[in-house]
Amino acid sequence: MNNKIKDDILSYITGKRYIHTLSVERECENLSQIFELDAINAQRLSAAALLHDITKEKNTEEQILLCKYYGIPITDEDMSAPKIFHAKTGAYFARDKFPDLTDDLIFGCIWWHTTGRGKMNLLEKLLYLADYIEETRTFTDCVELRRYFYTRIDRSDKIKLLNKTLILSFDMTIKSLIDDGSIINSDTIKSRNYLLKGSLNK
Ligand SMILES: [Fe+2]
Ligand SMILES: [Fe+2]
Repeated sequence: MNNKIKDDILSYITGKRYIHTLSVERECENLSQIFELDAINAQRLSAAALLHDITKEKNTEEQILLCKYYGIPITDEDMSAPKIFHAKTGAYFARDKFPDLTDDLIFGCIWWHTTGRGKMNLLEKLLYLADYIEETRTFTDCVELRRYFYTRIDRSDKIKLLNKTLILSFDMTIKSLIDDGSIINSDTIKSRNYLLKGSLNK
């Protein structure tokens, strides 16, 4: 079924974005094996990977029109960090164009893939990580995080390592937003704090 989506998404995602999307899907397949997902959840994660950036090529004006069309509330935070729009519009767009595929779990994976949220489920965490570390990423933080995760996976409690890796990714994101003088999305802070509290309580 995912081969058909790979063709269908070409109407919306092209060039480097398409290569990134396929690479996130491959990363998700690796992570599904590492975290021993059952066939249904592995399929879900792959579909979420293929659909996660479905509206990324739309500009801010188009994102705002999509928000209005789907009834997605626009917050001040969204307006000060418009990159986040594509996650929200992407979730609705995926459900609109691929209704048989986009169940609530896939919808949630797409919706939260840029910011994370307080209590992320496993599929949301895996898509978030795959998007950050897929192998075509060349940004130093991404390469470093990929190395951090894969050099430890064989000798670690997998869930603990996943959570630790995500905390590091949120730290990297927050630091770079501070360096750029940009707004930090409150869901990113909530994600980091939720995971950090969990790791400190163990
Ligand atoms: Fe994205
Ligand atoms: Fe992405």
